[in-house]
Amino acid sequence: MALNNALLKEFDELLTHYPDKRSALIPALHRVQEENGGWISPELMEDLAKYLDLPPVEVFGVVTFYPMFRIRPRGKHLVNICHNISCDLRGAQDVVAKVCELTGAHPGGTSPDGRFTVATVECQGACTAAPMFELDGVFHENLDDERIEKILGAVR
Ligand code: FES
Repeated sequence: MALNNALLKEFDELLTHYPDKRSALIPALHRVQEENGGWISPELMEDLAKYLDLPPVEVFGVVTFYPMFRIRPRGKHLVNICHNISCDLRGAQDVVAKVCELTGAHPGGTSPDGRFTVATVECQGACTAAPMFELDGVFHENLDDERIEKILGAVR
């Protein structure tokens, strides 16, 4: 089984917070992804489906529906660049170009050194400070080339 015992034990407790097993799927997927370096393998989806008594296709459907779940390995750092209307009007395409230039990654891909995965995402609710990206879970707003260089330059 690809799911480790510590995680299964955690899920046993998690299930006590929900009326049925299915309701725990999304929080469980978040934990699986965290524990697996930022992505969810087919084996992990199958194991979780078995644990939650769900058809594997249902787990796959949820994982592939929500953009916060990844089905492929990613770089050490994840840059989610918002490309919705407010950010787009305030230069999101320039942000994408600058991040890709600095990291060596293509949009949707990972840099050759494996350090950065760059993705475009939908509105993150920070429209008043557009353009923005989320780097490893932290929002960075009002981006321009200088700020992007400073932020990415500080990443280890
Ligand atoms: S459009 Fe980018 S945060 Fe809302």
